[in-house]
Amino acid sequence: MGLFIVFEGIEGCGKTTQISRAGDFLKQQNLPFIITREPGGTPIGDEIRKILLSSKNTDIIPLTELLLYTASKVQHLQQIINPALSSGTIVLCDRFFDATVAYQGYGEGMLLPLIEKVHSMFLPGLAPDLTILLDCSAELGLNRSRRRIRLEGKEQAEGRFEDKELTFHERVRAGYLQLARREPERFRIVDAGLSVDEVHEKICSCITEKLREKGYAV
Ligand SMILES: Nc1ncnc2c1ncn2[C@@H]1O[C@H](COP(=O)(O)OP(=O)(O)OP(=O)(O)O)[C@@H](O)[C@H]1O
Ligand SMILES: [Mg+2]
Repeated sequence: MGLFIVFEGIEGCGKTTQISRAGDFLKQQNLPFIITREPGGTPIGDEIRKILLSSKNTDIIPLTELLLYTASKVQHLQQIINPALSSGTIVLCDRFFDATVAYQGYGEGMLLPLIEKVHSMFLPGLAPDLTILLDCSAELGLNRSRRRIRLEGKEQAEGRFEDKELTFHERVRAGYLQLARREPERFRIVDAGLSVDEVHEKICSCITEKLREKGYAV
């Protein structure tokens, strides 16, 4: 079995930057890996992603949102994640189900038991081996994220969450920290306010620790 490693945190905390650097690290170690993301990861997941992230879709109903995120994960698990893990590949995934709990639950106020019920129905028995929570203030994350989106010209396509007020992102951050406190074995919290290189170093330590625990020679 491979290893399922998920990167979580608010917008602009550095998930996409760090997942790519983590991939470089695994490559140096000659370990097989893939990088993927949620929502997305499959052609159908990418179509669902467009609906979920578009600034046009402010009228989406919370339950629709929850079901679309879940649908993307079901597709992703069957087509990509489970086959990769079965073949001994390490899966680095940009967000997974904790993001739904943090955003729809803590951020938007959807009842947590409903989210947990949907997850346990459709994503049973599955949890990441390691979840790296990149933690920084909502202000810092949003500033970084808005700058990136502006530079890439993706305001319409990806702006729905960046358009929400600061307090929403503060609730999401607090939600993530709560989840991490609840499952300290699975989570590692990394200070995402540090430089890209410093954050990378810390992530490499977390991954190395987990690889050793699982019997990899690193
Ligand atoms: N530690 C850091 N210090 C300074 N800038 C950073 C750091 N990490 C990432 N950045 C920059 O901040 C921006 C957002 O980073 P990135 O896209 O990796 O975050 P993300 O968590 O994937 O965001 P999103 O949730 O919007 O996808 C990028 O332009 C990136 O270059
Ligand atoms: Mg990203």
